[in-house]
Amino acid sequence: MIQIKRKTFLPFALPSISEEAIEEVVQVLKSGWITSGPKVKEFEKNFSDFTGAKESISLNSATAGLHLSLEAIGLTEKDAVLTTSVTFTATVEVICYFKALPILTDVDPQTHLMTYETLIEAIQRECQEKNGALYHKKTQKKVKAIIPVHLAGHTCDMESIQEIAQRYKLYIIEDAAHAFPAIHKNKMIGTWGDFTVFSFYATKGITTGEGGMVTTSHKEHADRIRLMRLHGINRESFNRQGWYYEVVEAGYKYNLTDIAAALGIVQLKEANQFWERRTEIANIYNQAFANLPGISLPSEDSNGKHSWHLYRILVNNDCKLTREELSWELKKRNIGTSLHFIPIFHHPYYKKTFHFKKENYPNACKMYEQTLSLPLFAGMTQGDVSDVIEAMQDLLA
Ligand SMILES: Cc1ncc(COP(=O)(O)O)c(C=O)c1O
Repeated sequence: MIQIKRKTFLPFALPSISEEAIEEVVQVLKSGWITSGPKVKEFEKNFSDFTGAKESISLNSATAGLHLSLEAIGLTEKDAVLTTSVTFTATVEVICYFKALPILTDVDPQTHLMTYETLIEAIQRECQEKNGALYHKKTQKKVKAIIPVHLAGHTCDMESIQEIAQRYKLYIIEDAAHAFPAIHKNKMIGTWGDFTVFSFYATKGITTGEGGMVTTSHKEHADRIRLMRLHGINRESFNRQGWYYEVVEAGYKYNLTDIAAALGIVQLKEANQFWERRTEIANIYNQAFANLPGISLPSEDSNGKHSWHLYRILVNNDCKLTREELSWELKKRNIGTSLHFIPIFHHPYYKKTFHFKKENYPNACKMYEQTLSLPLFAGMTQGDVSDVIEAMQDLLA
């Protein structure tokens, strides 16, 4: 084994910020209006045009978007929400904000997504049906929503999730933090569920530094989110006098700034180019790693177009190196990796609060032992991609 070390460290993800984006942000900084204003409006309109969504509401994170989507459906402590065990804590913590109950599904062994089968299994294990509605057996909390997560940018099977949602009258709030842009069965992600929530965190498909967007086709839900993202201030009342406004709810401070939106507007123009480059790199990896022993490659999205936010391999039991050794050896060669995700039931807070039993999630447990995310971002050069491939071949072939 020859240890070829890159001169500089290659992180597993980096944002791509163009000169045009920097210039647009500078213009806003010079304009005298840096908080939510005309750029936010323009960004929201452009986002709707891009995705085909009826309503787009920007926020300062996807976490805020998930929170306000649950707020808009009137979630309370008497309710429960079905979601996946393989996700970032944000997906589940927002359910806890309401003292509602998260019910976790296991995942598909290949894609690590929530599926029809894993949903049905969780429902049969944890819920009972009464008059067409679902209740959690132990607490009698009423199941009100499903939050599927398009992990890594691979889309969940939305039609089968919709079938379950319709059967039990549940809202669908898609966590699409990884899925911009992505297509499922010829429709953009952002036009499927009751709500779709995107993240513009630094490593995501497009970034505003921190930021998020909710899309929905329900006007009343969109208006509720708009109200609650800025202190519950009724915007109509602003028009009456220069200084007069009315607070009609105890809202939140979740608005996006014009500085961030200016960056978002340019990133949105570049989104397809970023997407193509990430897809190209994923294809190069797929070809280069096809015959490497001991690892499994991420599944293609047979139902649509993967956003390729992450490139997650599985390090199998028969691999020469363990997942930890592979990650360490890559790090020694100046190549960064990451892990998506430590399953929710593994974290101390969720364990002590909800007493999840890991035996109920065998596929998530196996995924956690084996998964590793390799560098993938639009700004990777051919040289960066070759370095990752050479290091992987050197270590595993
Ligand atoms: C699956 C998932 N959902 C939600 C979030 C939260 O996004 P944000 O940081 O924009 O709040 C993340 C962030 O990484 C995520 O990975």
